[in-house]
Amino acid sequence: ADPDPLQDFCVADLKASLSVNGFPCKPVSEVKSDDFFFDGLAKEGNTTNVFGSNVTAADVLAFPGLNTLGISMNRVDFAPGGVNPPHSHPRATEAGVIIKGKLLVGFVTTANVLHSKVLEAGEMFVIPRGLVHFQRNVGKGKAVSLTAFNSQRPGAVVLPFTLFASTPPIPNNVLTKAFQVDEKVINDIKSKFAS
Ligand code: GLV
Ligand code: MN
Repeated sequence: ADPDPLQDFCVADLKASLSVNGFPCKPVSEVKSDDFFFDGLAKEGNTTNVFGSNVTAADVLAFPGLNTLGISMNRVDFAPGGVNPPHSHPRATEAGVIIKGKLLVGFVTTANVLHSKVLEAGEMFVIPRGLVHFQRNVGKGKAVSLTAFNSQRPGAVVLPFTLFASTPPIPNNVLTKAFQVDEKVINDIKSKFAS
């Protein structure tokens, strides 16, 4: 989904003061082989949090060699029963493969149809660009997935945070009407995500 590159590579200069769509390239004379390798997905993420899951991103911010190349990846770790909560990626389609364990993977179409399936190691899924999706570890042990995106920076709209933990907050009278519940319920949910 990202624009096509205009050269072999453009290793991001993340600290450049110049602001462009993406990042400016660091000088070719300063590019090293190391710019094209990244070991950040090798280690397990810490799943000790309310969701029991952890996303480790290998997007352009973590891996500047991806700049202008239109691709990136995530590693997602799941504790038993852990959930990667409903979220969407505004700039990318997602393809994933289960590395370990057993995951319920689902997405909802713009017609509000849920497509879901339980997948095991080696099996793949695809999440069409922008659609809300989730994974839940339905196995006995830990689970791990690797996901790939056709954007160097897919972005993530994580619905629990978007709706109940924005800064400043979405007014309660918007949320009570939208979800047809009392203000107490909204405050309850907001309190779970208060930082
Ligand atoms: C999974 O949905 C991910 O975004 O890596
Ligand atoms: Mn995702």
